[in-house]
Amino acid sequence: MPATPRGTRSGTLTPSCSSAGRRGPLQLEWKPPQRSHRPQVAAVVAETGIFRPDEIDVALEVFDAYCDAPGRDYWACAAFAGPDELAGFAFYGPTPCTVDTWDLYWIAVHPRFQRAGIGRSLLQQVEHHICSSGARMCVIETSSRDDYAETRDFYLACGYEEVARIPGFYADDDDRVTYAKYFAGSLCLRKENESREVRTKGHGEGCGTELPLTSPNS
Ligand SMILES: CC(C)(COP(=O)(O)OP(=O)(O)OC[C@H]1O[C@@H](n2cnc3c(N)ncnc32)[C@H](O)[C@@H]1OP(=O)(O)O)[C@@H](O)C(=O)NCCC(=O)NCCS
Repeated sequence: MPATPRGTRSGTLTPSCSSAGRRGPLQLEWKPPQRSHRPQVAAVVAETGIFRPDEIDVALEVFDAYCDAPGRDYWACAAFAGPDELAGFAFYGPTPCTVDTWDLYWIAVHPRFQRAGIGRSLLQQVEHHICSSGARMCVIETSSRDDYAETRDFYLACGYEEVARIPGFYADDDDRVTYAKYFAGSLCLRKENESREVRTKGHGEGCGTELPLTSPNS
């Protein structure tokens, strides 16, 4: 069974660029979203400007399913900038028909709060939770479109690696790009370690591949 997500807590983040339009550290409250936050979830998703209306509907379907039964198929975490001002959120859950693989289904940060570290913190919270639930890996799917370039940069910056690509999946000129992060103790990571050792032994220092994936617990 997945672990209980952590409850409400507070924290500060220092905006790393002026696009956030604020001075000083950003006070945030981290807590699971409630059903009453539905309009704000819709607003954050819409105001990123990247999702089509049908995709916004899907995000809300996932949110509704989460609210109906938190922790059954979906989990959620969120950052609030004011008493109830949703700055960003993530939806995630165990991937059906897998053993301890989890999916990040959705992550979005309101444009006013982007580049302040909220997305990274949300993803770290997701990883902390799923690792404590025994996750071997976390998988994320996104688009190859140009307007998703910054999103792909974000996943790479958070330690995810592109592991697969299906050409034309979303549309003729829109591939599905899959990112993954393997966690310490997973068989894939152990195999990667072993082959790294073999390559290093066979070819000397520097020829082995660097471990591409790290655990948030390490
Ligand atoms: C992707 C998203 C969730 C990132 O959230 P965020 O709070 O802005 O990201 P962070 O501030 O935590 O950024 C962490 C790192 O990711 C990278 N990154 C984030 N945004 C980036 C951008 N616009 N361009 C380049 N790199 C970026 C940077 O390395 C950044 O570290 P740095 O600021 O120290 O350089 C947010 O931009 C967003 O909501 N985008 C629209 C919705 C979306 O694409 N969701 C995912 C759908 S698959």
